Amino acid sequence: MAGWHVRDFAPEDLEAVVRLDTEGGGGDQPAVFHLSDVVAALQAGHPSVVAVAEERLVGAAVARLEGDRAWVLRISLDGAWRHLGLGSALLAALEARAHAAGARTLAAMLPEHGTGAAALRNSGFTPREGVTYYEKTRSVRAQDVVLLSSLGAAEPPAGLWDRLAGMAREKELIERRLVLPLAHPELAAQHGVEPPRAVVLFGPPGTGKSTFARAVAGRLAWPYVELFPSRLALEDGLANGLSRRFEEIAQLDHVLVFIDEVEEVAGIRSSADPAAVGVVNELLKSIVRFRDRDDRLLVCATNNVAALDPAFLRHGRFDYVLPIGPPDHEARCALWTSYLARAGAEADIATLADASDGFTPADIAQAARAVAQSVFERTLDSGERAHPRTDDYLNTIRHTRPTVTSEMALAFADQTGRYGRT
Ligand SMILES: Nc1ncnc2c1ncn2[C@@H]1O[C@H](COP(=O)(O)OP(=O)(O)O)[C@@H](O)[C@H]1O
Ligand SMILES: [Mg+2]
Repeated sequence: MAGWHVRDFAPEDLEAVVRLDTEGGGGDQPAVFHLSDVVAALQAGHPSVVAVAEERLVGAAVARLEGDRAWVLRISLDGAWRHLGLGSALLAALEARAHAAGARTLAAMLPEHGTGAAALRNSGFTPREGVTYYEKTRSVRAQDVVLLSSLGAAEPPAGLWDRLAGMAREKELIERRLVLPLAHPELAAQHGVEPPRAVVLFGPPGTGKSTFARAVAGRLAWPYVELFPSRLALEDGLANGLSRRFEEIAQLDHVLVFIDEVEEVAGIRSSADPAAVGVVNELLKSIVRFRDRDDRLLVCATNNVAALDPAFLRHGRFDYVLPIGPPDHEARCALWTSYLARAGAEADIATLADASDGFTPADIAQAARAVAQSVFERTLDSGERAHPRTDDYLNTIRHTRPTVTSEMALAFADQTGRYGRT
């Protein structure tokens, strides 16, 4: 008598699957794949099945398809339903789904004696001896996993910071004011330094504001959550959407929250638009509440700091208002150096830096990409390895319009003086 029924996972099952897992359904030793991987696979519709008995979810098997291999991320069994063949039944159903989805190999990685080991052995899986599994992880609390996933959180790589070329001035400022106090809160406290809670990055488009925000999250090993006002507006109104999202975020242990183009939700209030006033007020309130808790940072970016409602720039809301300007000559040299090295180029860096005045890191990246592509094609056409030269870059630079015009550069310098708080 089986007494259970195996069927496809349905979105309503998510909570029960997570509960099964956190209540020890996965065994005593920590699983190789994190619960966040399992939740992500379930939400993305990867092959997964559940077993139901007495109208309760008593087992789950979840896979993630990667090319023609499917990884079994989880086999969870309710304590009362072990050793009855339920694991094998789940695995058989999972195997069928994975094969139908294109998997040729089904692979599983379990702690020794982990839940599912017996089922794998009984279902014709061969253990690979002599393989050592290495890992390096950052910690996320179990209760945060589902929330982070529903918030669309990312985990930017720690190395992103180092890949940001040039911009030495901005990097140093961000490192000292933001990263270090947040990374060393005890030391900061001994000096009476309060770690920042909220900052504005302002500057022309393409200077790296969004990338800096992600890179800071990577440095701190904090999850990165971006809020998209246009999407929040679809939930009953932007003000409600913002307030609800900030309430959810308040439950997280630590997090970096990013709002791009913040002037669209934090613009100067005008009595002509009461709904917009409501949004600005809600965001102000949310920031005040957000500041109450440790281990979190709100980063807002804008191309137009002058468009922000003055209330945002008053003390007590944002700790810093940091200018992220177009790269100066030295920073452009550093940016070009990094791209030239990658392309095996023999070009004069100072000449390129002169010619690309007004270029943002994004413009330089784009020009470097164009040259790399054309030289790659030249190599293919000629059958001989071509190397980019100074003229290749200069030609491309001449055909690229710099993002930052001289008026914009002046406006930025003026805003830095008037609004910058570093
Ligand atoms: N310092 C940098 N080094 C290398 N690439 C950069 C740098 N800053 C920005 N980029 C690249 O330029 C593009 C635009 O950067 P982004 O962060 O979106 O700028 P912003 O948010 O200020 O508009 C991205 O593709 C980013 O990877
Ligand atoms: Mg951006």
